[in-house]
Amino acid sequence: MQVGDRNYQSIWLERSDPPVLKVIDQQKLPFSFGICELGSVEEIWTAISDMTVRGAPLIGAAGAFAMYFATLEAGPLEDPRNHLQNAARYISSCRPTAVNLSMAVNHVMRKIEEGDPGKTVPEKALEAALEICEKEKENCREIGRHGLPLLQDISNKKDGRPVNILTHCNAGWLACIDYGTVTAPVYLAHEAGIPVHVWVSETRPRNQGARLTAWELGQAGVPHTLIADNTAGHLIQHGMVDIVLVGCDRATRRGDVANKIGTYLKALAARENNIPFYSVFPSTSIDFGIADGVKEIHVEERAPEEVTEISGIKGGEVVSVRICPDRTPAANYAFDVTPANLITGLITEKGICRADENEIRKMYSDKFK
Ligand code: MRU
Repeated sequence: MQVGDRNYQSIWLERSDPPVLKVIDQQKLPFSFGICELGSVEEIWTAISDMTVRGAPLIGAAGAFAMYFATLEAGPLEDPRNHLQNAARYISSCRPTAVNLSMAVNHVMRKIEEGDPGKTVPEKALEAALEICEKEKENCREIGRHGLPLLQDISNKKDGRPVNILTHCNAGWLACIDYGTVTAPVYLAHEAGIPVHVWVSETRPRNQGARLTAWELGQAGVPHTLIADNTAGHLIQHGMVDIVLVGCDRATRRGDVANKIGTYLKALAARENNIPFYSVFPSTSIDFGIADGVKEIHVEERAPEEVTEISGIKGGEVVSVRICPDRTPAANYAFDVTPANLITGLITEKGICRADENEIRKMYSDKFK
């Protein structure tokens, strides 16, 4: 996507000697735009866990590149399998909820084991990582194509008034290499001249909505308004939201969806008020091995300081301040699970379907064995 006069992806590899993985530093946005350079498994691990790199498809891509760096770090071992299996476990452990990470790491492992024997192990790993990036970009483009008619249909009934979309967290291009999932149909609608307006939920505790989605939409010129998370129910109740579009970190085969904490409450409010609620994601976010999201999805718990403190910019300096009494205990669950029965539909690269095992099975028959 365009930033200033340049086109960026949120991750890319500089094939120098040694190679360098470049990522947009999502910790710094929106206060400054910077690129972070990563040159080892350890550095990539840290960037994923401190959320310099974040968002389900993007951490998948970063994990895949980490496997490539692991092949380089293995050096000329006769049989690097042990080293790579340990690296795969280590990288996958970094953030437990988004399934894209372990899925991408396993994909690279498979390609190393089954790929062209005429290629070196690093060559096979690199090819697999680059393939994942291209596939995720393609997935987002397709998601945009499938989601656009939903926005067009709502617009057709609104007599030129904007389609009000509520979103949560950041499921934009920063989180997905390019285009984004939730943002793909929004950007397409905006480009097509369909009037859209996005309610951007701030997404405490880390404020990915306020910091990242607001920045992205601003860069693209899409009309948007930032709201405190707690405002969503009020807007939905008063007819100020036409559709809720949220991302996904792990969907189950029956269509339960884990996404950023706070998503479930928005789904409840949408259901109560008959507002369509869609989760938007590529198949790399589906864990076909599990059915019951509430019971089976491991919800990441992060440092309590993310709740007890808040950071922002003051006088040109980024500062963190405590927002509660000293030593107040805090709990920081990073995700929640929205059960399939609250979801109107899933927007994927293969099309839109109901959040229902049979429907998902029809769309992804190759993944059900
Ligand atoms: O903790 P984060 O910021 O990585 O969480 C991200 C989300 O919950 C996104 O909504 C999700 O990854 C979808 S990104 C296309």
